[in-house]
Amino acid sequence: MSSFTLKLETPRLLLREFQISDKIAFATYRSAPEIAKYQSWDIPYSEAQAAAFIESLQNLTPGILGEWYQLAIELKSTGEMIGDCAFCILADDGKQAEIGFTLARQHQGKGYATETVTCLLNYLFKQQKLHRVRANCDPENIASIQLLERVGMRREGHFIKSLWFKNNWVDELWFAMLHDEF
Ligand SMILES: CC(C)(COP(=O)(O)OP(=O)(O)OC[C@H]1O[C@@H](n2cnc3c(N)ncnc32)[C@H](O)[C@@H]1OP(=O)(O)O)[C@@H](O)C(=O)NCCC(=O)NCCS
Repeated sequence: MSSFTLKLETPRLLLREFQISDKIAFATYRSAPEIAKYQSWDIPYSEAQAAAFIESLQNLTPGILGEWYQLAIELKSTGEMIGDCAFCILADDGKQAEIGFTLARQHQGKGYATETVTCLLNYLFKQQKLHRVRANCDPENIASIQLLERVGMRREGHFIKSLWFKNNWVDELWFAMLHDEF
């Protein structure tokens, strides 16, 4: 059965499906404590885990309601895989999505995440014609908060100890943008 894969492009980046050759870069940045701190996985994140994760993404179709779709971020100038981003169109009404993003430490501070999230928002609002896109992060995740504010998402809520995460109850900040605001 053939599957549809998504490829998006920005001035400096390709957002493309994962390849098995991404596994070393992926395992390396996922194993960095500052990258994993606010994310779901534990460290170290092995190459075997990376390979299994990449395998699990093969043949997924973008936009299936309720399913996360993960894209690798490739730097066009060098071909390096520098991070990843993801979206999930929420199953309840099919008109809202949640997004997520990660950049390898050495590629932060250059605007690549801003470019990635702007591209994702463009895809979700203009091509998928969604009504609302949301994102959440830990209130201590300053880089993530600044990124979400930089792309124009609104800080809408601060939930107190609403998430059981890595053996603690943690707060969640929720951000969102509406179609007409993009
Ligand atoms: C969240 C995360 C992706 C943000 O990365 P980032 O590098 O801060 O964001 P950008 O790539 O957009 O870069 C922005 C920085 O580059 C600078 N910059 C340089 N050129 C730029 C350009 N062309 N456009 C925009 N910003 C640019 C900005 O001024 C900003 O610098 P500052 O941090 O000193 O203010 C990153 O911190 C990360 O991967 N964290 C770990 C994973 C994580 O927690 N993910 C979120 C879970 S909710």
